[in-house]
Amino acid sequence: MTQKVAVITGSYKGLGYALATATPSGSIARQLAQQEDIRVVLTSRQEQDGLAAQKRLSSENIQVDFHALDVTSDISVQQFTTWLQQTYGKVDILVNNAGVNPTMQPEESSLLTVQMETMLATLTTNVLAVARITQALMPLMKAQNYGRIVNVSTEMASISSMGSDYYPLAPSYRLSKVGLNGLTALWAKELQGSNILVNAYSPGWMQTDMGGSNAPFTADEGAETAVYLATLPEGGVQGQFFAEMRKFGGAVALPW
Ligand SMILES: NC(=O)c1ccc[n+]([C@@H]2O[C@H](COP(=O)([O-])OP(=O)(O)OC[C@H]3O[C@@H](n4cnc5c(N)ncnc54)[C@H](OP(=O)(O)O)[C@@H]3O)[C@@H](O)[C@H]2O)c1
Repeated sequence: MTQKVAVITGSYKGLGYALATATPSGSIARQLAQQEDIRVVLTSRQEQDGLAAQKRLSSENIQVDFHALDVTSDISVQQFTTWLQQTYGKVDILVNNAGVNPTMQPEESSLLTVQMETMLATLTTNVLAVARITQALMPLMKAQNYGRIVNVSTEMASISSMGSDYYPLAPSYRLSKVGLNGLTALWAKELQGSNILVNAYSPGWMQTDMGGSNAPFTADEGAETAVYLATLPEGGVQGQFFAEMRKFGGAVALPW
């Protein structure tokens, strides 16, 4: 397999995938799949969602592979890892895009009312599941001393901006993405000196099921920084937290 194998979690819709009517640049899956040296593995919890997305891309002459993956399930992650190993014998790129956001629930407006069940469910998907899939795929990256890992975070996780930013309190979501940023920094420390680069970024507020229709940007616009971080050259940046490139015209680190 000479192509790089790129796994994108939760990639049948939204930032991971975007709609068939998207701009030519496309979402993360679409943009990566259009690079000749990359083979994209589209993933979704429900098999029918991913297969339908794969078919839509195929009708646009964009070929991707598909496998079901629920990142909160040990069994699903094990089956997926085995399939990757048997099919390609490697993985080069992992975009941890799958995520949940319970911000719209009224109790999320205050730490006085936030439900612990909601907090646990959000941390389970946005932090622990990323830890699980990254841990599972890391041996395949280590075996070839190559890997590019992109963790999809949010500006709302910047602790140093929390006192003054204009975002809703959203305790479950923000804490989960703070955890994701921490995971990014810790993986980077553990991988120091290797050619496996782990970074996080904020895609900005986008028109997806999560972001809603009032968001100012498309999922395609939010994908740009993910593609940049997924294709970093050897010696590229390690363990940083980036803003969306669209905002600054280039890769700019956000304060933690
Ligand atoms: N939209 C925004 O404005 C915005 C802003 C900042 C950051 N982000 C981040 O961007 C990423 C993508 O969000 P989006 O806006 O594209 O949201 P979205 O349209 O709601 O997509 C989220 C994706 O995650 C998947 N997912 C959730 N739980 C999963 C699990 N256990 N296993 C596998 N996949 C799972 C969903 O699949 P199901 O349909 O099966 O649940 C869906 O494919 C998230 O990490 C989000 O936090 C979004």
